[in-house]
Amino acid sequence: MPRLALGIETSCDETAAAVIADGKVILSNVIASQIELHQKFGGVVPEIASRKHIEVVYPVIDQALKEANVRLQDIEVIAVTCGPGLVGGLLVGIAAAKALAYALKKPIVGVNHIEGHIYANFLAHPTLVPPFICLTVSGGHTDLLYIPKFGHYEILGRTRDDAAGEAFDKIGRVLGLPYPGGPQIDRLARQGNRSAVIFPRALTGNDTYDFSFSGLKTAALNRINQAHQAEEEIHLPDFAASFQWAIIDALTQKLLLAAKDKAVKQIIISGGVAANQGLRDHLTKQAELLGLTLLYPPPVLCTDNAAMIGSAGYFRYISGKRNDWTLNAKPGMQLGDDLLV
Ligand code: KG4
Ligand code: ZN
Repeated sequence: MPRLALGIETSCDETAAAVIADGKVILSNVIASQIELHQKFGGVVPEIASRKHIEVVYPVIDQALKEANVRLQDIEVIAVTCGPGLVGGLLVGIAAAKALAYALKKPIVGVNHIEGHIYANFLAHPTLVPPFICLTVSGGHTDLLYIPKFGHYEILGRTRDDAAGEAFDKIGRVLGLPYPGGPQIDRLARQGNRSAVIFPRALTGNDTYDFSFSGLKTAALNRINQAHQAEEEIHLPDFAASFQWAIIDALTQKLLLAAKDKAVKQIIISGGVAANQGLRDHLTKQAELLGLTLLYPPPVLCTDNAAMIGSAGYFRYISGKRNDWTLNAKPGMQLGDDLLV
């Protein structure tokens, strides 16, 4: 009999539930996206997000059980994101998970959302074993990690200001693209010339693994404002390709530097920005040149989902970790912040 975990994810604007067998096999992966709801505001409105999560969390869980063809009683452990993320959304997921665990007398495990993003790679590549370097790039995070063994995370670098996805989304909004800007810029960039606009790079030295995208964002905003003032039309594909290239270049440099310094042969990317085709293509070429193995999940496991939470939670549970009824939302939770029992 496979051992089943139910994963629940509500940290941002996706209400998601998944059933995972033995931590590695996805039996269902249901995602109710709120993107359309937030599009008219140009970004996620936390209160609207929480209200939507509370409406759909149980229907999404029901759907996940139905698609996996299992009953709630067959679930062995309930895994739920407890941070980082928007507090209102996290509380909805945690309360839903606790109610189920309490009624069914099942164990509950809190999961760090970033750890979940890393586990998306274990789901996509079940034979993957550490050591590796992982770049987790999403709307809220840009973390460069050294993972020497399962469950051990050494944070090498992170963004000092905006996350890469946040920079994509902010510039997308100013360019008048629908939210989220990342996939839109990715699409436009495919037809553009990445050398058309020269954008600055920050922290390019080998003395830090940190990132900074605020200077790039300001440079892009200035360029857009200058064009508006001069009543010049911005060539969107060229602008998108150049802006995206500045991000890809910065991410690649630090990822490869970390692989060299730690002498590891496997590099992994995860999080929403890991769905970026330009980043995937460039890293594939670089990895080939350097004899490195590059792995990334399919796009549906890059952006927020509950399969990754079910997988990470299952392995926490197998290693003996459990939470009690005091499990709470930790909006600013960091990797390694082990507030979990
Ligand atoms: O992992 P995720 O779904 O949520 C967070 O944990 O933040 O990531 C969402 C972010 C958004 O900023 C979105 O614009 C970005 O990932 N993203 C992309 C692409 N797909 C999603 N950025 C660049 N290119 C893409 N194809
Ligand atoms: Zn995420």
